Amino acid sequence: MDGNVDVKRGERVVRPPPSPGEGSRLGDWETAYARYREDPEGFWAAVAGELEWFRPWDRVREWRHPYARWFVNGALNITHNCLDRHASGDHRNKVALIWRGEEEGDEQVLTYRQLHREVMRFANALKNLGVGKGDTVCIYMPLVPEQIVAMLACARIGAVHSIVFGGFGASALHARIRDAKAKIIVTADVGYRRGKRVALKTIVDEAVVNAPSVERIIVLRRTRPELELYSELEVDYEECMAAADAFCPPEVMDAEDPLFILYTSGTTGTPKGIVHTCGGYMVGAYYTSQYVFDMRENDVYWCTADPGWITGHSYIVYGPLAAGATVLITETVPDHPDPGVWWRIIEDFGVTIFYTAPTAIRMFMKFGEEWPKRSSLDSLRLIGSVGEPLNPEAFEWYYRVIGGSACPVLDTWWQTETGMHMITTLAGEPMKPGFAGRPIPGVAADVVDREGNPVQPGVGGLLVITEPWPAMMRAVHNNDERYRQYWTTVNGYYTAGDLAVKDEDGYIMVLGRADDIIIVAGHNLGTAEVESALVSHEAVAEAAVIGIPDALKGQAVKAFVILRLGHAPSEKLKSDLVYHVRMSIGPIAMPSAIEFVESLPKTRSGKIMRRVLKAQEMGIDPGDISTLEE
Ligand code: WT7
Repeated sequence: MDGNVDVKRGERVVRPPPSPGEGSRLGDWETAYARYREDPEGFWAAVAGELEWFRPWDRVREWRHPYARWFVNGALNITHNCLDRHASGDHRNKVALIWRGEEEGDEQVLTYRQLHREVMRFANALKNLGVGKGDTVCIYMPLVPEQIVAMLACARIGAVHSIVFGGFGASALHARIRDAKAKIIVTADVGYRRGKRVALKTIVDEAVVNAPSVERIIVLRRTRPELELYSELEVDYEECMAAADAFCPPEVMDAEDPLFILYTSGTTGTPKGIVHTCGGYMVGAYYTSQYVFDMRENDVYWCTADPGWITGHSYIVYGPLAAGATVLITETVPDHPDPGVWWRIIEDFGVTIFYTAPTAIRMFMKFGEEWPKRSSLDSLRLIGSVGEPLNPEAFEWYYRVIGGSACPVLDTWWQTETGMHMITTLAGEPMKPGFAGRPIPGVAADVVDREGNPVQPGVGGLLVITEPWPAMMRAVHNNDERYRQYWTTVNGYYTAGDLAVKDEDGYIMVLGRADDIIIVAGHNLGTAEVESALVSHEAVAEAAVIGIPDALKGQAVKAFVILRLGHAPSEKLKSDLVYHVRMSIGPIAMPSAIEFVESLPKTRSGKIMRRVLKAQEMGIDPGDISTLEE
């Protein structure tokens, strides 16, 4: 971790032309940041005051390390701010959602008023099935408007949603249903991916075996003839909508009531259920959408994530809708039917703000400039990136080819746990390729050593957040110990688990994870999760996985496998294992290489030393191996 890191790659400073970026409405960073440092509570109170509350808060913040409460005793409903606030005024006919299916011309548009009504109706449908405040609803859907309607309907009635990305397999879904004790599952018969159907409902059928909390499964049936529903647990989406009232008042929520659980990979086998609450999360998601993404009246905003990730929660649904934006969503993948499809979407809908991931950018670099050049991307005025480090080459390409050398590139660093953007440049600020930027006003971040002392510029260290912030997670579901670890490992700061380095101007370059997380194409995978999928195969005795560099995906999974007696290594077995991982966790977790080994490097206490495997793999010095078993 320590030692000098080459920050030369950040030498180039890119200053976007003053127009059309106009610059952030927060003003310049120095002034805005000083305003925050002088009075952090006043700063956040002013932001929260731009939203509507049913009851004002008594105190902005209560901090009993490591437990925070924000907007104490305030009452609100996030859907009131995302929907009613716009649907009742001049904005009611403004487009809230544009959905584009896989086929050109397959579109759906919902105004704020229409979305509001859909959400209220589905909220009543949930109520009719016995869902109430505090119940958990698991949403396992493709990227269709109903996915967002289901989320907002939960929030409307105070039910806690737990969204599971539609690309996850049955065992991942099962673990999440069980941990959250989901009462209802909302799903669809199929999702579409590259013209093929993904049978989501079949996966649900498998995942609910041995999940006694589940009372009902609501199924959106997209295909004709309709998929047959055969158990009394199952209900049709349209039918329960038709039977429900159109009006549903928002449940009055305390600022600290839970809004959702979202699972992220942990270093142990079970994923962590990150809990976010209503008030602080709303303020954080709104603030960053409004001021970091600088959303304005006529923007058409497109974030290419799925609502099943935190990026989608904060920057497809809650943030942009709270800011009253027009949000584009699509079920299309970037390279089907050809690598020009996303650029045609930008031209067709006049997208002005575009938010995607480095893995997608690198993929487009590979396809070549001719694809984006075939469409007019002139409408873009701000482009963002999230998920993993945006390497300088990808920055330059994104800035020039997609942004036309005229748009700020916002490399936003944040996490499921942080709920909102934490580090990025603001529109109009100088950008340094390779660096995410400085902490945004409202956030106190630093790079420190293991004792918590700030490290010198150019020296690697741990990325920490030194002060609580409104959208911070409040708990790890059923695991307080794990929650406390985030705030007790380094000097009482929040440790993000990332390694980083700062430069003289305070710009932060994020280097990657410090723990056992592999980021494949922007998706977090716990090594333990993949390993336990592997050992659940009958031929496998033990397994260890590491991340290896991959030009396209950033990292790829390599697995080292010890076979059980009676099983011999073969190419056939390798592909069986890959398939097995795919079915239990999903395509993102599929190992790109498998090596059969006789033993694995372990500590004396029996922990697999992945870092030794990794060093061997990369031909580098494994560092301190004093704990390695003989
Ligand atoms: C981890 C969090 C936040 C939504 C997407 C992922 C990495 C995220 C960046 C960035 C370098 C980044 C970090 C972080 N990461 N954004 N701009 N530069 N690294 O959310 O699944 O909770 O993963 O993603 O390693 O800790 P997540």
